Amino acid sequence: MTLFSPEILLMLSYNCYYATPSRVYHFSKPIDYILQKKLQKQPLCHFNWVEEEKRMSISPGYAEVVSLQQTNAGSWMKYLMYKSPATYRHCVRVALLAEIIAPYLNLSEQDNASFIRGCFLHDVGKVRVPNDILHKKEHLSEWEWNILRKHPVYGEDILKNHSFFDANILDLVRHHHERYDGEGYPAGMYGKSIPLFARACSVIDAFDSMLSVRPYRKPFTKEQAYQELSRNRNTQFDGKLVDMLISISTEEMSLYFSYIYSKEK
Ligand SMILES: [Fe+2]
Repeated sequence: MTLFSPEILLMLSYNCYYATPSRVYHFSKPIDYILQKKLQKQPLCHFNWVEEEKRMSISPGYAEVVSLQQTNAGSWMKYLMYKSPATYRHCVRVALLAEIIAPYLNLSEQDNASFIRGCFLHDVGKVRVPNDILHKKEHLSEWEWNILRKHPVYGEDILKNHSFFDANILDLVRHHHERYDGEGYPAGMYGKSIPLFARACSVIDAFDSMLSVRPYRKPFTKEQAYQELSRNRNTQFDGKLVDMLISISTEEMSLYFSYIYSKEK
């Protein structure tokens, strides 16, 4: 069975909460096991926890999963999971996309891990946004928008005093809503001055949002989402990164598509 990155394992651990809410700590299982069960519509609770724990505790990712859980960011993500399950699932999917596109960014092993971890954490700052703003179905007032737009800065604030998160992760979280044309927030950075990880996260964040169910619109099809990204090349997004995502084969993206379609429909 393939073991995915520690981040992916951690992200998927929330499934176990749904399966066994009495369990007091996170436990992770490989994504293909979860997908298989979800696609077969089988419950996850029919599971030998003791055996699984033994198996996972000797797996390469386990120590890192535990250390991420022990940071305050791990606690905040757990809180986000309860506060806004849809946002949490979005973070999971953005990290899953990050894992798929990371090889195309030619990153070092450490940067690769930082990119995926940063994508998972990109919306952690939403824990500080009041529920009535985060979940409002009507249009937000300007005042409410201003609060929501603080989530990248809140996110950086949550992560910044922990050595587990490097500068690349902090930059990604703070700047994932910058736009290539300088019209984004919080800093209004422009073009390549926006850190690479934040530019890449912005593309996959938008892609996943387009494919997601929203109260006010139907989800985009894959084709519509690719078209929308292309339409915003070099305005909202770094055009090269858009091209990179679009060039990835459906086969390589299949795990992500299985996941979003199994969750959202
Ligand atoms: Fe965000």
